[in-house]
Amino acid sequence: MTRKILSDLRIATLDAGGAPYGLIDRGAIGVEAGRIAWAAEADAMPAGWSGVETESFGGRLATPALVDCHTHLVFGGNRAREFELRLEGASYEEIARAGGGIVSTVSATRALTEDALVESALPRLDRLIGEGVATIEVKSGYGLTVADELKMLRAARRLEKLRPVRVRTSYLGAHAVPPEYKDRADAYIDEVAIPGLEAAGAEGLADAVDGFCEGIAFSPGQIARVFDRAKALGLPVKLHAEQLSDLGGAKLAASYGALSADHLEYLGQDGVAAMAKAGSVAVLLPGAFYFLRETERPPVAALRAAGVPIAVATDCNPGSSPMTSLLLAVNMACTLFRLTPEEALAGATREAALALGLGDEIGTITPGKRAEFAIWDVEHPAELAYRIGDNPLYRRIVEARD
Ligand code: NIG
Ligand code: FE
Repeated sequence: MTRKILSDLRIATLDAGGAPYGLIDRGAIGVEAGRIAWAAEADAMPAGWSGVETESFGGRLATPALVDCHTHLVFGGNRAREFELRLEGASYEEIARAGGGIVSTVSATRALTEDALVESALPRLDRLIGEGVATIEVKSGYGLTVADELKMLRAARRLEKLRPVRVRTSYLGAHAVPPEYKDRADAYIDEVAIPGLEAAGAEGLADAVDGFCEGIAFSPGQIARVFDRAKALGLPVKLHAEQLSDLGGAKLAASYGALSADHLEYLGQDGVAAMAKAGSVAVLLPGAFYFLRETERPPVAALRAAGVPIAVATDCNPGSSPMTSLLLAVNMACTLFRLTPEEALAGATREAALALGLGDEIGTITPGKRAEFAIWDVEHPAELAYRIGDNPLYRRIVEARD
């Protein structure tokens, strides 16, 4: 079995409950068969490891490899013109109601082949990987026909074969009502969203099921019908909830034991309590908050007080968050949402892993988990949240299993 030691590291294990950041000051990590065997102060190395191949990292900082748990990485076109319109005064909702917004990305995505979608997503993926990301979630939701939703999910799956990254897919058929179903959202749910979910399930293309519960998208009742089918197929759910208004989406998602509810700017106390009870993760998306110039902040203090795990993600998408830097999202989570740097870094590692149902596998430097690390040219982990638009990654390490 392949063994190695990574030595001369400061290690932010992100293990909860111990020192801040789970910090081990002068540490080393033992790797065996692609998993973490131990992480300890260098003078506390376990017996039986002397003579094992050792690489020294000159005192650099190790963290778990980063996890981007909410992206729309696969899409066609861009929405720079819409950005101009919004700066001239049009709101995101007005543009959506006038047939722009998500629906304009739908036309651009339908026009691309699966190959072209993969090609256009790769540079964005490479930017994330270049910042130490080893796991990303990718949603469908810009196809909105059964065939185009499946095309997006197949493209997302292919990314995993083309780059050393773990991809978790979410089926987001209930993202927007396409023009051909204008004012017939219920028919869209019955004729496209649910059949698409069944087809994605049959092909093993969806690891989870997402939706957009909002005035410009779908009602809680419509989302519930999609979630009922997800449940019947044994797929976990998550939801874009309370981004622009409070429709009780997070509460609905929690009633299905959701992995996460995401955005949450307009989340009320009842939603916080429901999420805490269900163990759902709150995924905060400061890029979308910033880019839409939102002013309502997610209720971070209430989430914290209720013990709801808080994750941070890019929400990389062409309309509300054209962002391919998870470190920038971490920075913004601190400046805009007042997370501590430790919470924000945990949000892009430990809690993000939890939001993908991968909490036992990745997200902390803990014995038994996958040997997936980011090594940084920084001294203290707070530096990862502190710098704006900087990338101090020294090396990303993703050990294959034997
Ligand atoms: O997460 N909120 C809905 N979906 C995306 C935005 C998609 C778009 O505008 O293209 C989001 O912000
Ligand atoms: Fe999103």
